Amino acid sequence: MRCLAIETSCDESAACVLERSGDGFTILAEEISSQTAVHEAYGGVVPELASREHLRNLPILVDAVLHRSGSSVRDLTVIAATRGPGLKGCLMIGLNFAKGLALAHGVPLLGVNHIEGHLLAPLLDVPDAPFPHLSLVVSGGHTEIHEVSGIGRYRLVARTTDDAAGEAFDKAAHLLGLSYPGGAKLAAIADKFRDSPDKKRFSLPKVMREAEGFSFSGLKTAIALLVQRNSALLQDEQLKGALCAVIQESIVDALVFKLREAQLRLGAEFITVTGGVSANALLRERVLELAHGKAAFPLPHHCMDNAAMIAHVGALRFERGERSPLSEEVRARWPVEGMD
Ligand code: KG4
Ligand code: ZN
Repeated sequence: MRCLAIETSCDESAACVLERSGDGFTILAEEISSQTAVHEAYGGVVPELASREHLRNLPILVDAVLHRSGSSVRDLTVIAATRGPGLKGCLMIGLNFAKGLALAHGVPLLGVNHIEGHLLAPLLDVPDAPFPHLSLVVSGGHTEIHEVSGIGRYRLVARTTDDAAGEAFDKAAHLLGLSYPGGAKLAAIADKFRDSPDKKRFSLPKVMREAEGFSFSGLKTAIALLVQRNSALLQDEQLKGALCAVIQESIVDALVFKLREAQLRLGAEFITVTGGVSANALLRERVLELAHGKAAFPLPHHCMDNAAMIAHVGALRFERGERSPLSEEVRARWPVEGMD
């Protein structure tokens, strides 16, 4: 069973060839082309530019993963592509590319839900993670907790009512003069200043204690005010580092608070965290503490958008007998609940 997968839902073009090996899967080849440099000047993703880049990148990436995995299209058991949610134009490039290959070579097609890809990405490396478990999907576009009772069995427990945690990281990083997307850069600085005594010079409110779900707009405003008020101090690298540490702690604290709430309410023991922000070291440490070590995370390069997570879901669903018709359309919005 060999699956080629294509991911183009936002600003990452990615392709992967994955093969079933025993109880698990082996990634034979994967490629990812990030468009950060294209969008950096605009401070965010420009959908038209993203689509154009996908169109340019995909043939090269797919050719590379087929070549490196020693596969021809005819060797493939199934071709999976992200069907949604995401930017419509971007999704159409990837899904239509997959349809073209599937039609030309008579290989079955499977449209995959991008959030399901993230939800199950930790299981690529920990295939025996127990069900039910809680999964925090936390990226530049999503901040939500799901109860995962099995493959395809997801229940939304909490979601953001405004911004995503990754946006809060990126906005704070921008205010501190770090280039887009600055979340990882801010986190790298923050980690060096975790024990800085200067941290007590800055404080941020504890947010989301009463509210249902996540809400990052208040915290984003509080961070903006704190940075503005202290702009004169920020010429000092030590103080800037301490401020980064305080910002990181406040965002991570809010995420872990909501996870603890869900854990208490649902009695789930095992926790996974996935999506771009799950690369965050402090978040991983705090979740491991909360779950007493019973937690799993994707490999660092599978936290952000990638095609291995799409191949994984494509393969699992293919094995359950699922196929998509060639007439299948993209779904810019596509809730992951009720997909069993
Ligand atoms: O999953 P992803 O690649 O794309 C979306 O679907 O949004 O996530 C990207 C987000 C960005 O907001 C980025 O700043 C954030 O993940 N991010 C991090 C870290 N690495 C990436 N945020 C905090 N700490 C990190 N180490
Ligand atoms: Zn994503």
